[in-house]
Amino acid sequence: MEGLRDLYQEVILDHNKNPRNFHKLENANRKADGTNPLCGDHYTIYLKIEDGRVVDIAFEGSGCAISKSSASIMSQEVKGKTVEEAEKIFQLFHKVVTGEADALDHLEELGKLAAFAGVAEFPIRVKCATLAWHALHTALTAEEKKVSSE
Ligand code: FES
Repeated sequence: MEGLRDLYQEVILDHNKNPRNFHKLENANRKADGTNPLCGDHYTIYLKIEDGRVVDIAFEGSGCAISKSSASIMSQEVKGKTVEEAEKIFQLFHKVVTGEADALDHLEELGKLAAFAGVAEFPIRVKCATLAWHALHTALTAEEKKVSSE
């Protein structure tokens, strides 16, 4: 378990240092912002959805290591999924970080997201881990609208 913890720590540090899909998405057709009122950290999530599938996703913004690595891994896990699948991952991730579900029962579905299971022990960090996800949820469930390119 100790080794697994170290591995997960490395995953979080890596994604914080080199966040994936960390840019504006010019051809996005959905967009949502998320801000943590406790600290002011914020992210913008961009989605390109075609035929009910997330064909591309990117994000911009700034925040702590947990929030940024969570957004980065989220972008990898959600890319290519249908809107329903992406929503399911959001629900499962939320349950795991709030302690409602045990990550060990869902390792396959969670993939690298299992790295955030320890967050459940630190309620103050739940908002960090889910910040980008709430924006994703808003973007997934919003009516399609053109993102202004100003
Ligand atoms: Fe602001 Fe983590 S401290 S999102």
